[in-house]
Amino acid sequence: MNADDAGHPWFPVWGLRLETPRLVLRPAREPEMDSLCRLAVRGIHDPAEMPFEVPWTDVPSPLRERRTFEFILGCWAGITPEGWRLPFAVCVDGAVVGMQDLAASDWQQQRIVQTGSWLGRDYQGSGLGTEMRSAVLHLAFEALGARRAESNAFEDNAASISVSRRLGYVEDGERFVDRRGVSTRQVCLAIEADRWESSPAATMPVTLHGVTDDLLEQLGVEGHTAP
Ligand SMILES: CC(C)(COP(=O)(O)OP(=O)(O)OC[C@H]1O[C@@H](n2cnc3c(N)ncnc32)[C@H](O)[C@@H]1OP(=O)(O)O)[C@@H](O)C(=O)NCCC(=O)NCCS
Repeated sequence: MNADDAGHPWFPVWGLRLETPRLVLRPAREPEMDSLCRLAVRGIHDPAEMPFEVPWTDVPSPLRERRTFEFILGCWAGITPEGWRLPFAVCVDGAVVGMQDLAASDWQQQRIVQTGSWLGRDYQGSGLGTEMRSAVLHLAFEALGARRAESNAFEDNAASISVSRRLGYVEDGERFVDRRGVSTRQVCLAIEADRWESSPAATMPVTLHGVTDDLLEQLGVEGHTAP
């Protein structure tokens, strides 16, 4: 067992690590938060566009960095068995290239997860977005026993919608959200556990580290035991 496999003695989610052929996803703690802030300031999208429902990239630096810290620290502080959001730093060869989160509310009743993600602009368009979403879906469906995963994207966010479709999500409605003062259509996409099992993406090798009984207890997972 190496040091990373030892997990965290008191805060099991910090012991999680997800590995795909090109990526390592690890909990965004202080060093990763610093890197994510620097990456976000370099740019995630064309400033004329807004892919995010919460327009945090419109906030000028250095307030944007502080808001990023507040958001991530709030995720860690807010974990309960009923609901959680796990912000992972996405790394290539040790360098942080983006963020992928996995969230649930009313988890024990619904067992539905939502995802959110972004990559620095230099890292977009080469399949990493698909690979990192696939990693957290493995965690959700295979380790946590999720029943369904959902993703909403503004209708002009072709990359996000393509990632969902490529992973087997199907369109499941629409909603309208204020975006810079304009009511804008979002496409709602979802994938159920049984469809995930037959999705080609489910065959991508993903190694999950840190799935322990303590982790399952922290996230309110019942009826599953750690491998
Ligand atoms: C959304 C995002 C994470 C996707 O990651 P990515 O690595 O760029 O996506 P991938 O390379 O895995 O591409 C997946 C699919 O999207 C398509 N795609 C990627 N960028 C695209 C673009 N700008 N326009 C149209 N299609 C695009 C790819 O061709 C691919 O489609 P295919 O499966 O049909 O071949 C990334 O583009 C990003 O960070 N965007 C800005 C932030 C954002 O929109 N976050 C999501 C908010 S809901």
